[in-house]
Amino acid sequence: MFKKLIGAFLVLTLALGLSLAGCAPAAGEGQNGAPATGGEQAAAPDTLDEENDDAPPGAEAQDSGPQDVAPSRVLIAYFSWADNAVVDLPASDDSAAIDALASASLFPPGNTGLLAYWIQENIGGSVFSIQVTDPFPSDFGAGANRVNQELAANARPELAGFVDNIADYDVIFIGFPVWADAPPMAVFSFIEQHDLSGLSIAFFSSFGGGSIGNSVRMLTEALPDGSTIVESTFGASGATFGNAEENIAAWLATLVF
Ligand SMILES: Cc1cc2nc3c(=O)[nH]c(=O)nc-3n(C[C@H](O)[C@H](O)[C@H](O)COP(=O)(O)O)c2cc1C
Repeated sequence: MFKKLIGAFLVLTLALGLSLAGCAPAAGEGQNGAPATGGEQAAAPDTLDEENDDAPPGAEAQDSGPQDVAPSRVLIAYFSWADNAVVDLPASDDSAAIDALASASLFPPGNTGLLAYWIQENIGGSVFSIQVTDPFPSDFGAGANRVNQELAANARPELAGFVDNIADYDVIFIGFPVWADAPPMAVFSFIEQHDLSGLSIAFFSSFGGGSIGNSVRMLTEALPDGSTIVESTFGASGATFGNAEENIAAWLATLVF
């Protein structure tokens, strides 16, 4: 029953979320709108009223505001270069602020972080930024070398933070940039170091001029038995990122968990 509710809830609250978007954290906002960092605990979700299964989803919306409208057992976990790179430029030098529509940005929230915000804007939920204890260098060449080494070694980089209350969620969106046709290895660390069994899992991704590559297959193989993978995956390329906000809303409207 709950999963049906979530599905209906997603569709219904998409419309509500769009009309209430002004109240939700804005994509690309400063610190007020920033997601929990890898070192912080994602906010505990509200729980749906299990005894009130027959009530229409979002029935309390008009009384309580948008935070109570959203499906509340949703976690949006994402990895972004922007949250995992050391920026060693003088404060006055913003030359590292690479065009976020086409390239990885060094500054939060990053492209994948933006996608995460837009998911939250539409359906609510808690946002968690996956972060490693050893950040990447901001120099692209040096960073790319490490990416390739970690991929070749099938590494599991150490995570800086964890979602301690993962059992409180029913649905998890996992977002990542494509790196060398694969997800960052820290996403595997996240998947393997949290108990995702029993959760419905949907992937979203941003990439440059390539494609999502082998990423979904690789991540799917790493998931535990008992997890339900949503077959539809969202991807925003550099060329389509300008339309990603509306495209991700349209994708969310198709999902049934
Ligand atoms: C080290 C590295 C490797 C990348 N490899 C690919 C790739 O194989 N294919 C692709 O389309 N984009 C690739 N990209 C581009 C990123 O996937 C893209 O810029 C993404 O939107 C960055 O998201 P972020 O800002 O959340 O990190 C790569 C970027 C970096 C930094």
